[in-house]
Amino acid sequence: MNLKSLPEAIPALFPSAADRDRIGSWLNAQLGAALKRVQAGPVSPTVNMQDFREQLASFDFSAPRPLEDALRWAIDNLEHGIVQMANPRYFGLFNPGANFPAQCADHIAALFNPQLASSASSPVPVALENHVIRAIAQRAGLGEAATGHFATGGSEANYTALLCALTGAHAKFAADGVRAFAGPVRFYTSRDCHIAWLKIAHQAGVGRAALRLVDTDGHGRMDPIALERAIAEDRAQGVVPVMVVATAGTTGGGMIDPLHACADVAKQQGLWLHIDAAWGGAALASDRLRGLLSGIERADSITIDAHKWLATTMGCAIFITRRGDLLSAAFHASTNFMPSSLAAVDPYLNSVQWSRRFVGLRLFLALAAAGWDGLGGHVERGVEVIERVKERLLRLGWSIANDSALAVLDAVPPPQLGDVRTLVRRVVASGRAWVAPTSFEGRDVVRICATNGETSMEDVDALIAALNEPL
Ligand SMILES: Cc1ncc(COP(=O)(O)O)c(C=O)c1O
Repeated sequence: MNLKSLPEAIPALFPSAADRDRIGSWLNAQLGAALKRVQAGPVSPTVNMQDFREQLASFDFSAPRPLEDALRWAIDNLEHGIVQMANPRYFGLFNPGANFPAQCADHIAALFNPQLASSASSPVPVALENHVIRAIAQRAGLGEAATGHFATGGSEANYTALLCALTGAHAKFAADGVRAFAGPVRFYTSRDCHIAWLKIAHQAGVGRAALRLVDTDGHGRMDPIALERAIAEDRAQGVVPVMVVATAGTTGGGMIDPLHACADVAKQQGLWLHIDAAWGGAALASDRLRGLLSGIERADSITIDAHKWLATTMGCAIFITRRGDLLSAAFHASTNFMPSSLAAVDPYLNSVQWSRRFVGLRLFLALAAAGWDGLGGHVERGVEVIERVKERLLRLGWSIANDSALAVLDAVPPPQLGDVRTLVRRVVASGRAWVAPTSFEGRDVVRICATNGETSMEDVDALIAALNEPL
């Protein structure tokens, strides 16, 4: 019998143990050195994109290159080709400098590459994620019975909320979709919500017109009277309201909608209450700040992004609900090729995703290493950074448009510094700091947000100097 042997494994993809060790140690050293340069260097990209595209075009993949060369090339281009969240003078959108335990979690997940669809293939990761979800649900006051899962981001978690609300609103939604309802469905959130809700409405098949943006109260918070009025108007027209979304930490101004008043309206009207705490939910970690979220315990579901203020690596959000039965109703499926099919347990039967990465380890390790005190301390530190920025700007003739107790400041420059958009462009182009332009209650503002856990007073001074550079 001629037993043919197999070809060798492809060494470029599966190198020897010795090569892995060698390249791994080298990569670690390279990354450590790059991080130091990134933290001290410009916040904005400096790469010449034309040069980059030419280099990129040379990768036609016809001939292999040494992995170390490709790694060096990738690190170099990331060092110069992105806005640097790891730089402590990044005061921008809610993208954090990632905490170290979360980075370690990514190493571990990459090596074992567990498939988190099923509790049979990944019993330990599924139980571990569940443990973290329950700990957060407890912290939010949702009680023992609450459940949930990790999601790729706030948008996926918010989408899950809408599907739960629709599934709970009509027994026939699962089978018939929106045709089950007696009229067009609608859900409500404030004008200052995260506008991905429009995409979510589209994705869910209810149509973008299903989102009704409710007026704010002049301070960036949803006006509960306007909310009630909108629902009454809609009902009078034959529209079917299904959900109220309160935002706890608006994207632009860090404002928290009046959670109790929104919960009262949702309760009176028999509507699902979702609290989008994608960013502000991090305040739950702090004993000093969690009271700001009073009312969150009344939610039917909550979104919290661990990849924002809790500073995990990207692609790590949490969806929590007290109605696990609706998750199972919305996401159940039946197949005989999966290693398990446990309703209420297997992630693939209770969430949008099927194959899924082990992202919960990031928050688990951060919590294990820092405890609630440490994670809460990180969140409180962000608030203090913003307090220092605020004190300095007020002394220099700036005014503050938002009244947020969280770590974001919407600041209005004195007239001699010119208009907001030009000023922000100047600061960003200088590379000395990174801030964003936005508007708050109709005023153009410079949005300054503490997202990096290592920002120092020298970094605050550098930001203030960059913002106040004379024309
Ligand atoms: C309040 C709020 N909700 C939802 C999102 C969307 O989250 P993600 O970008 O993680 O999908 C954001 C993002 O900034 C947000 O601020």
